[in-house]
Amino acid sequence: MNILAIETSCDETAAAVVKDGTQILGSAIATSAAMHEKYGGIVPEVAAREQLAYIIPTIEEALKQANTHYKYIDVIAVTVGPGLIGSLLVGVETAKTLSFVTGKPIIPVNHVLAHMYANFVDSSSFIVHSKTPVQQPSTTNHQPITFPAISLVVSGGHTELYLMKSIEDLTWLGGTLDDAAGEAFDKTARLLGFGSRGGVAIQEAALRFTELRMKNKELSIKLPRPMMYDKTLNFSFSGLKTAILREVNKLKASQQFSDETIQQLGFETQEAITDVLVEKTLRAARAHGAKNILLSGGVSANLRLREKFMMHNTEFGIHVPPVQLCTDNAAYIAAHAFFRGKPTDWHDITAIPDLSVEEI
Ligand code: KG4
Ligand code: ZN
Repeated sequence: MNILAIETSCDETAAAVVKDGTQILGSAIATSAAMHEKYGGIVPEVAAREQLAYIIPTIEEALKQANTHYKYIDVIAVTVGPGLIGSLLVGVETAKTLSFVTGKPIIPVNHVLAHMYANFVDSSSFIVHSKTPVQQPSTTNHQPITFPAISLVVSGGHTELYLMKSIEDLTWLGGTLDDAAGEAFDKTARLLGFGSRGGVAIQEAALRFTELRMKNKELSIKLPRPMMYDKTLNFSFSGLKTAILREVNKLKASQQFSDETIQQLGFETQEAITDVLVEKTLRAARAHGAKNILLSGGVSANLRLREKFMMHNTEFGIHVPPVQLCTDNAAYIAAHAFFRGKPTDWHDITAIPDLSVEEI
């Protein structure tokens, strides 16, 4: 079954053609990153206008890569939420129009739940279509995913834990009460002067401090690990941002806000966020007798997070998609539609910005 998937929930405009939920035949992404540099973040109205211009060429690029045509597509899948209303509408209305014109069934997809299905996409089929060099995860786990499994979705807007009893049976276990892990990375990046480069910039700064540490440089900044040991499987990262702001102000007041202290702050931010994510996920996995842990979402691109999970790979199978499948793309939208999707009359499909990630 060939699925044409469309994803426009945030600032990316993505389309993919995926066979049987696993084989990527074509995958195209148009990003508004340059625009974010200019405006220092996402301006929803501007993003949606750009996406209107990108959507058709992006779909055509995915079809071209797949060497196929609309008539060989069996199903259209589209992200309906959660996300920015203007952005979602671009993808949803395009998909509905395609469904109406071609007569193909359409499947609405929840963006956050879909992220975890990147783990079921055959990453070798992705490499063929990637224009940028594919960064494999620090480990590629070729073992099949068996259940029960625990799935951690960590993105710019979400930090959610799920129990997977089978490939389609999901239960929400907990999530962030305020900021998402990605948001904490992004806000810290801004505080440290990295603009909108987010988690990647923090990872780079942390790496530089790791090198200094190897030369016996001491870590003099300590940040809290919010909610790490409370009984629930919920998270909270907004206090971390406040703690970082306090440290930054203190360093600035004493004129110690330097490259080195910025790198220290980046290092300790990354340590704090990844410590909490690993601790809670392991706890969930042990409580539910999980055999495997699945990571997904943009933050799962983080190398330190992967490294920390890999320390537990004798207890659990650890699965992480290649970096380019962690961040937003349409391939996992197709995978989710294949494994869990329900074809829906296009009249009943609508963009839902606050679509729940808890009621599945
Ligand atoms: O999944 P995603 O592409 O979009 C959303 O659905 O939100 O996730 C984007 C998030 C951003 O917060 C970004 O800073 C974070 O993923 N991110 C990272 C890394 N790469 C992307 N965070 C930490 N380390 C990284 N290497
Ligand atoms: Zn996402």
